[in-house]
Amino acid sequence: MAKAQQLKALLQSHMEGDEARFYAIAMQIAAHEAKVGHGALATELRALIDEAKRREKRTPAKGPVPIVQPRGELSSLLSASFPKVRLADMVLPQSVEDRLSRILKEQRQLAKLRTHALHPRRKLLLLGPPGTGKTMCASALAGELDLPLFVIRLDGIITKYLGETAAKLRLVFDAIAQTRGVYLFDEFDSIGTQRAFPNEVGEIRRVLNSFLQFIDQDDSDSLILAATNHPEILDYALYRRFDDVISFALPDHERIVDTLRAKLAAFRKEGIDWASLAREAEGLSYAEVTRACEGAVKDMIIHDLPALEQPLLSRAIQERKSIPSSTCTSA
Ligand SMILES: Nc1ncnc2c1ncn2[C@@H]1O[C@H](COP(=O)(O)OP(=O)(O)OP(=O)(O)O)[C@@H](O)[C@H]1O
Ligand SMILES: [Mg+2]
Repeated sequence: MAKAQQLKALLQSHMEGDEARFYAIAMQIAAHEAKVGHGALATELRALIDEAKRREKRTPAKGPVPIVQPRGELSSLLSASFPKVRLADMVLPQSVEDRLSRILKEQRQLAKLRTHALHPRRKLLLLGPPGTGKTMCASALAGELDLPLFVIRLDGIITKYLGETAAKLRLVFDAIAQTRGVYLFDEFDSIGTQRAFPNEVGEIRRVLNSFLQFIDQDDSDSLILAATNHPEILDYALYRRFDDVISFALPDHERIVDTLRAKLAAFRKEGIDWASLAREAEGLSYAEVTRACEGAVKDMIIHDLPALEQPLLSRAIQERKSIPSSTCTSA
C-alpha cells in the first residue's frame, strides 16, 4: 500500500491544484505497488492516471467560478473583469519579471505557505510613468491566477462620495475579504496627495487613515494592488503596508525592439530595421509604442498593402511622438 507520506502529498497537491505534482505522485505510487509485487493494482492505477490526463486535455481549462458582477452600492465602486492577459504578453526588465514570477509562485503555493503560518506576498505597490504596464500587470496577475480583476478608481470614490469615502472603502475591503480576486486601486495617489483637493484636506487624511487601517487588518487571500504615477507624493506611511514595491519604467532600446516585434508578430513584414525604429521611438512609453504599431497596421489594412514596411512604421512612430505623452495612458 502507498505510504502515508505519499497519500498526504497526493491530497495536498490536489488541494493546491498542482496537477503536475499530483500525477507525479500518483505515478510514484503505481511504481511502488509494481515493485512490491502488486502488478495488477499498478496497471490499474496507471490506466486511471492515463485516462485522467486524457480527460483533462479534452475539457477546457478550469476558469474562475464566474462570480456575479458587483451589485448595489459596490457596482459603482468596483468594475470587474476576467482578463486573459499573461505575464509572457508583457515586455519587462528581467528584475521586474523575476519579482512578478516570485509573487505568482507564492500565490500558487498559498495553501502550503499557510500551513506553515506564512503569508504569500499579495499587497503590492506599483509605481511608474503612464503607459508602462501597471494596469496590464494587474491583468496579467489575474489572468495567470485565474482570478477576477476588480478595479477601484479612488479618485472617483473620493470626488463622488466626498464625506463618506471611508464608509465606501469599508465596502470595498469587505468585498476583498469575501471574494478572492486581484483588487487594483488605480490612481492611488489621490489619497496620498493633499494638493488635488486643497479644501478637503481633512477628508483626504481621514480616507488615508481608513485605508491604512483596512489594509493592515486585511488577512484575506486576495491580492491588493495600488498603482500610481506619482510616487513622490505618496505618504511615507503607505510604503511599509505593502509586501513589495514594484517600479515600472519607460522601455529602453532593447525593450522597444521587443515591444515592436511582439505587437507586430502576427503581420507580414518586409525589410524592417528594428534597431533604427527603436532609436526613433526612444522616449515613448510601452503604451505609445503599442499605439504606433496599431496605427501602422491600420494604415496597412486601409491601403490594402501586402506587408508592413519601414516607412509606414516610422511614420506611425513620428506621429505618436508629436502627441503629448499625457494623452496616451491606459487602454
Ligand atoms: N510592459 C508592457 N509590455 C507590453 N505592453 C505594454 C506594457 N506596458 C504597457 N503596454 C501596453 O500599453 C497599454 C497600456 O498600458 P497600462 O494601462 O498597463 O499602463 P499604466 O502603467 O497602467 O498607465 P497609467 O499610469 O496611465 O494608468 C497596455 O494595454 C499594453 O497594450
Ligand atoms: Mg493604469
